[in-house]
This record gives sequence, C-alpha cells and structure tokens, in this order.
Amino acid sequence: MCGIIGCVGRGDETLDTLVHGLSKLEYRGYDSAGVALANGSVEVVKRAGELENLRRALNGERDGVSGRVGIGHTRWSTHGPPTDENAHPHRDCTGRVAVVHNGIIENYQELRDELTDAGHEFESETDTEVVPHLIETELAGGADPETAFRSAIERLEGSYAIACVLADDDRVFAAREDSPLVLGIGDDAVYLASDVPAFREFTDKVVYLEDGEFAVLDGEGWSVTDSTGAPVEKAIDTVTWDPEETGKSGYDHYMLKEIHEQPRALRQCVSGRVSELSGEVDLDVDVDPTGVQFVACGTSYHAAVYGAQLFQEAGIPAQAFLGSEYATSPPPIGDDLVVGVTQSGETADTLSALREARRRGAKTLAVTNVVGSTVSRECDDTLYIRAGPEIGVAATKTFSSQVVALTLLVESLRESRRETIAALRDLPASVQTVLDTSKAEEVAEEYVDSDAYFFIGRGMHYPVALEGALKFKEISYEHAEGFAAGELKHGPLALVTENTPVFALVTGEGEQARKTIGNVKEVEARDAPVVAVTDRKSDVARYADHVLEIPESDPRTAAVLANVQLQLVAYYAAAQLGRPIDKPRNLAKSVTVE
Ligand code: M6R
Repeated sequence: MCGIIGCVGRGDETLDTLVHGLSKLEYRGYDSAGVALANGSVEVVKRAGELENLRRALNGERDGVSGRVGIGHTRWSTHGPPTDENAHPHRDCTGRVAVVHNGIIENYQELRDELTDAGHEFESETDTEVVPHLIETELAGGADPETAFRSAIERLEGSYAIACVLADDDRVFAAREDSPLVLGIGDDAVYLASDVPAFREFTDKVVYLEDGEFAVLDGEGWSVTDSTGAPVEKAIDTVTWDPEETGKSGYDHYMLKEIHEQPRALRQCVSGRVSELSGEVDLDVDVDPTGVQFVACGTSYHAAVYGAQLFQEAGIPAQAFLGSEYATSPPPIGDDLVVGVTQSGETADTLSALREARRRGAKTLAVTNVVGSTVSRECDDTLYIRAGPEIGVAATKTFSSQVVALTLLVESLRESRRETIAALRDLPASVQTVLDTSKAEEVAEEYVDSDAYFFIGRGMHYPVALEGALKFKEISYEHAEGFAAGELKHGPLALVTENTPVFALVTGEGEQARKTIGNVKEVEARDAPVVAVTDRKSDVARYADHVLEIPESDPRTAAVLANVQLQLVAYYAAAQLGRPIDKPRNLAKSVTVE
C-alpha cells in the first residue's frame, strides 16, 4: 500500500534521501511515486509506474529540483487509476502547498464539492487533493501554516497518515488517524515515514505517532501535539534490527532470501522463551483464556486456522475468522480472548475486527512482527513473532514464525509437552534440511505448463494446503486452489485432469494420513500427477509421481516443514515464468484499507 517519507535537515542530500526512502518502501506495493521539495517554491515531480520512472524524470529535471525540506510518496491506487496526475504529492491552486497521504478520506466528495463551489480547481481524481486545497483556504483566511494544517485535518473523516510542506516554510507537518506514521530521530536530521525501513539506514531512534497526534519537524528537531494542541511527551524507541537485514544479501529476490532466513527466524522466535531445564514456556503475555477467537487475513489467516487447531487439540475451544468477515456476523464473545494475527500489524480488516471485539468488551492479544505497529498499540497485550523484517509481498518466514509463536502460546498455558518443545527446538535444523535438499525447483520446472494446481491436506496440513495455493497463485499468476483433502470428492474432483498436478500433504502413519492417501488414490485414478510432500513414515510415496521429502517431526510442526517445500515450489514456478516475484501485480505488503 502507499508509503510516505519526509525529511528535514539532510541539506543537499534531501532529494536522494527521499528517493532512497521510497526505494525502501517499494515492498509495500505501489503503482506511482513522487516527491516534493520546498525551497522558496514547492517543486513536485511524480510519475506513474515504477520508481525508475520517477528517477528518470528527476535526472532530467534535477537542476530544478532542490530543497532542504521534502516529502515523498509511493501510491497504491484507490481513487482514480495510476496516472502522473493522480500520483502524490498533490498541490493547492497556488502551488504553495504539497501533500502526501496514505489511507482513505471518506468525506472527500462533500469537501471537493464545497471547494469546487468556492472556485478551487482540481487536477486529479484522488480523495487526497482536497487536503492541500483545504490548507490553501485556511492560509488565505490568515491562518499561520501550522494552524492551517491542523484546521484542514480537522475537516477530514476516514483514515490518514498525511505529510505536508509549504513553499515558504522549512518545516514538515504531519498527522495520523488509523494509518501508521513514525518519526526517525537522527543526529542532525529528522525523518518521517509510514514504515521504519524508509530511514533505517540513517537512524535507529524512532518515535511512533498515535491516532489523533500531529508532528512538526524542523531544523531544530521535532515536536508532537495531541488533537487539542497540547504537547505530548513521546518515548524514543530503538529499533534492534540491522539495515543489512533489509537488503537481498546476494539472493535474486527478497522472497528467496526470506525463505532461507526461516531457520534463524524460528530460533529467534523461541529464544529465551523456553526454560532449558524444565521446558516451561514464558512469553511475558498476560492471558489465560477459556476460549479463543482468531481474526486475521490472507497468510496470517492460514496461520490462525493452524493456531486454532493447536488450541482445540490442547482442549481450549478456538476458532479462526477472516478479519473482513468478523464484524458482519460477530460470534458471541463471552470470556473469549480475541487474538489478531498480523505480521505487519497494520492490516485494516484485522484491526477493524479487533476494534469490534474490543467494543464488545473482549480482551485482545496481538500476534505480530512489527514493534510499535498499530495492532501492538491497540491490543491489551502483544506476542512478537520476531521474524525480522519481511520485504517480499509474499509472506514466508512470518507464516512459520506465527505458527511457532502460537505453538509457544498454547504450551505456555499448560504444562508444556516435552515432545512439542523438543520439536520446536529441532525445527530450525529441520527447515535447514528442507532448504538444503529440496527438489522443488525440478518439480516446478516439470509442471510449469499445467492448467491448474491443487493442494490438499487434513488437520494441520489443511491450512498449509490453503497457504500453498495462495503462495502459488499470488506470485506465479497461475490458477491454484487448496482444499481439505476430504472435500475433493464433494466438488473439486471435477476439475482434476492429467494436466492439474495435485500436491498432497501427508505425514506420519495415523488415521489422517491413511485417509489422505485414499484421496490421493482418487486423483491418481483420474490421471492427475501427484506430488507428495511427506516424511519417511508415510507410504504415500508409492502413489506419487514426485516426492518432496521433509524430516520426520512432531505432528504439530510437520506442516510447517511441508509449507517450506510449497514456498519453494511457488518461488521456482514464478521464477521460471519470469514473474516479478517480490512485487506481484495488484498486491501490497501492508493492506491498510478495508
Ligand atoms: O500483515 P498481515 O499479516 O496482516 O497481512 C495479511 C495479508 O495481507 C497477507 O498475509 C497476505 O495474504 C500475504 N502477503 C500473502 O503472501
């Protein structure tokens, strides 16, 4: 989704700092980009498409684009298609004010009509453009820049992170409501961004803004005020991850790098949380639920479905809900704990489900990767998954870390089971074995021309079948679907042909494995190629055309290993098809609109 960068105090390097920040925000997904620099006038350069188009335009115009105060933006279209005109920053009629915005201004049409009637001329179809015109109106009425900015923001309904510069002012003004904004405090410069990677190379000191807060950045530093204008004391946090972690480290894509980072991510997730001697789990979260409702979207929803099974199996009633559906027919809450699973901590659908749950009196727990994210600030407690920054739009290491964090959560609520703790400790090494020995690339190559791809599994392999299909379709653009293995014969079997490979997830030799092997035989009888993702205990290999082997593991962790194989299959299929793996079309890393 959209990204914001702003800075004051970088002198002649302001423009380069903004463009660097935008490049670090590319992973969020965008379809146009732009910058505005203030230096007596406001220069705006913006282009539809890749950041490279903006860079080319800036190279052409570099002499005309200078300034020591600036803002930049990557836009993911909501109101109006991705064109140069609709790209941010947007200006007022006089060209004195420039604004960038993330989120959606719900009352923009009403404001636009009012401003148009008053003689303002609009250049774009965006909701954002009302903001510079509102500021212009306030300035024309005699307000000073800061008051004009605040008064304009007070007129807005909806969600926003907004930053603004003025031609004759050396400050950046910012405000947030339901959309993240964070300040970066450097030695001689101050930064503003929707996400820390945008300025992480320049500073590790951060200040997270809360809803309703305003910030002013100037040559002397920064200040934050609340909606009444009263100063707010803000804590300065230090981010612990290294800027190197946001590079590709020699991998062709962030996704492949992040798949390979899983052993480390899983060690980090468990580290210091399990007693060496007793195996007891201490997560430093204050929960003791009698029932659990999970809310989440996409890959995080699949981790939540997995988590719900872990809880059920431990005797704690649990159910997973899609964030976008939760408020439509909310289940009775009773004493249930509502757990929001979201790697970014900014997913609007998940946040709104959690807000609905809180409104109805529920206690809430965030399971997230991002320290200081909205979800962690809004929930009663937070369990961090500690996966490190994930840049590829396709979630990989965060899924595994979410599942491990939820497994730890279950174990922390009871006397921990020795075999599960042992499995969690072995998991990083087992993932490494999968990474070192996987034949996923060959399998992807063999089946890359198929009509469709199906993924089946039971129990904890079911959410992984869904996740395998999601990963495959989102980065390869090929049709892929995941099913509970037993559901195949209730409809989807009609789609199965000799040109639709079926990836069957089967581990162990229990009842579930036996039944899934029965389903494998059903597809085999229809001539579909079968790829078994399996350990050595199962004899599904006898019925498979290919085997993607995983080490034997506890039933609670085996599906995480199977998922790593499916991540690799999706990656290599997309690579062979030449897809833009880290930034699939139409998708965004952080989905901040409902
Ligand atoms: O940040 P979140 O975990 O809340 O994101 C939810 C989904 O948008 C996300 O998991 C999405 O499905 C993945 N990028 C798919 O790989």
